[in-house]
Amino acid sequence: MGSTIRVFILSLISIFALASEAQLSPFFYAITCPSLQGIVRISMRQAIANEPRMGASILRLFFHDCFVNGCDASILLDDTASFTGEKNAFPNRNSARGFEVVDTIKANVEAACSGIVSCADILALAAREAVFLLGGPSWVVPLGRRDATTTSQSAANTNLPPPTANLTTLISMFAAKGLNARDMTALSGAHTIGQARCTTFRAHIYNETNINANFAATLQASCPSLASGTGDDNLATLDLQSPNRFDNGYFQGLVARHGLLHSDQELFNSGSQDGLVRLYSFSFRAFAKDFANGMVKMGNISPLTGSNGEIRKNCRIAN
Ligand code: HEM
Ligand SMILES: *[C@@H]1O[C@H](CO)[C@@H](O)[C@H](O)[C@H]1NC(C)=O
Ligand SMILES: *[C@@H]1O[C@H](CO)[C@@H](O)[C@H](O)[C@H]1NC(C)=O
Repeated sequence: MGSTIRVFILSLISIFALASEAQLSPFFYAITCPSLQGIVRISMRQAIANEPRMGASILRLFFHDCFVNGCDASILLDDTASFTGEKNAFPNRNSARGFEVVDTIKANVEAACSGIVSCADILALAAREAVFLLGGPSWVVPLGRRDATTTSQSAANTNLPPPTANLTTLISMFAAKGLNARDMTALSGAHTIGQARCTTFRAHIYNETNINANFAATLQASCPSLASGTGDDNLATLDLQSPNRFDNGYFQGLVARHGLLHSDQELFNSGSQDGLVRLYSFSFRAFAKDFANGMVKMGNISPLTGSNGEIRKNCRIAN
């Protein structure tokens, strides 16, 4: 074989090798599953029509997936007798929800293109639709993630920020995932939708001073004190004004010291993020743009690509 041809063939091989480890691409399923994005949108519209909170629950699932070993659908794996996954990690137990909706979307996608689309990509697309359907921004979702075959409960316990975290801790936990403070503050704006349990904000409404007193008193009526021994699972909306609308009400709430979680109010408590919170509180556009950017960055956290991982048949079980 002539040396020119040899070099040509070697470079062709390396181009294919690169392609198989390629970055995510919005066109990943363009040929193999062209109806994918429409199916996810229709399925999410149905899910939110059935229960408005579901948009929030799906968005949070994506965050909790990406922060634990990357966006690899690890959070979707069910525990079994011989396997302990993320579902019962402290931040998820009795809290993470929406798994049945993911199952329904997966079934709808499988019916159109069997064995092609990962659960990790379905979750990334479902989160985008959730935000958009509730009035938020849309963005192009890079695709081509593959699904984990296993995971670690302790990784979920240590990688997800707790609601007691201070600003320094929030910034450093996001930095550990390649997200800067601006991304962290914008992404926290996800709390413009959805709800939290009393147990996650009780200390903030009873024992802290960086909270509006009337707001605290109102919440105490539905979230009884620790001494009462009751009410742990009573719900309150993370954005008082419009819990089912993806707007900038969350940031207006922070400026009014209506942050529900301690960690929420940390973003506006005389620290480095005050200016950004103020900006988002009067500019939905600024928030929407940074949120969309942040979601793409979060969605890029260490995906499995190429021949790593698998395309799960059932999102709850490794093949
Ligand atoms: C900045 C650090 C964050 C902390 C400490 C935090 C903490 C929490 C907590 C404690 C809850 C309530 C859970 C419960 O009571 O069961 C919650 C709910 C929620 N979180 Fe976060 N979160 C953070 C960031 C994010 C991010 C980045 C997103 C998405 C991009 C997100 C999306 C949500 C949503 C949508 C809900 C409501 C879920 C529902 O109603 O089912 N959070 N979060
Ligand atoms: C923030 O919390 C961490 C961990 O709990 C603690 O070590 C640190 O001192 C706190 N920082 C500030 C500024 O309060
Ligand atoms: C509030 O502080 C008091 C006194 O330190 C403590 O006994 C109580 O458990 C705290 N309440 C919550 C909800 O953390």
